[in-house]
Amino acid sequence: MNEVIRTLMNHRSFRQYRRETVEPEKLKTIIEAAQAAPSWVNGQQVSVIAVRSEARRQQLSVLSGNQKHVAEAPVFLVFCMDFYRAKVAGELEGQPFEAAKDVDALLVGATDVGIALSNAIAAAESLGLGIIPIGGVRRHTAEVIELLQLPEYVFPVVGLCVGYPAEELPKKPRLPLEAVLHEEQYNPEVKGLIEAYNLEHRAYLKEQGLTERDWSSTIAHFYTLNPQYGDAQHTLKRQGFTCDNLKK
Ligand SMILES: Cc1cc2nc3c(=O)[nH]c(=O)nc-3n(C[C@H](O)[C@H](O)[C@H](O)COP(=O)(O)O)c2cc1C
Repeated sequence: MNEVIRTLMNHRSFRQYRRETVEPEKLKTIIEAAQAAPSWVNGQQVSVIAVRSEARRQQLSVLSGNQKHVAEAPVFLVFCMDFYRAKVAGELEGQPFEAAKDVDALLVGATDVGIALSNAIAAAESLGLGIIPIGGVRRHTAEVIELLQLPEYVFPVVGLCVGYPAEELPKKPRLPLEAVLHEEQYNPEVKGLIEAYNLEHRAYLKEQGLTERDWSSTIAHFYTLNPQYGDAQHTLKRQGFTCDNLKK
């Protein structure tokens, strides 16, 4: 196993951080690694807002559903899908900007953000830092957009706490490979694999002194929610993502 694979396989999300700062050079490297990711048509549809201010991290902690690690970690990076620069490119070229009328823009933006986030995570972890992604930034996006002064065509997708961890954690087990890797065609026979994973999941929780619960129970409960999460159904449109073709 090489160093890159070792770093990727050693991932865990931390929810407790030491107070010490993240060195500016390390932060720069993390963002450059995120920027090095591939992107749709090289449009680079990602922006990262680096929040170090304690007061602003505190506000984002509350807006993310009172997640204390957001205030505790010395740096909070907000990964946004960003078509604002594409709109400006259109102005420079005298071309209309049409992309945000298509629901595909959401797939493009979310994919670009996901890849960039993943690069940033790998870079941070390889530098001895700990992280946790925070989808909680999508709970109250109207307030997050206002706080970070995001212009039209920019939308906060996920945050990332970065800092030196103040805890040790075992790795969280994953689904069996066969549940995820489908040879040639999709195999929907996953019940048995999920049941096997439930046992592993329970053992993991027990080892940590947490209440034992099946993975399927947690996920099933979470996905009963409707709307799923946050206020994106209102704010996406306000930011210019009208997705007109979805309604036709
Ligand atoms: C896009 C994304 C958003 C997430 N949002 C949150 C969050 O808001 N709060 C939280 O405590 N964990 C969050 N997580 C962390 C997941 O719960 C965690 O990755 C998962 O339980 C697997 O654990 P591990 O990362 O330690 O392996 C998020 C993860 C991802 C990928």
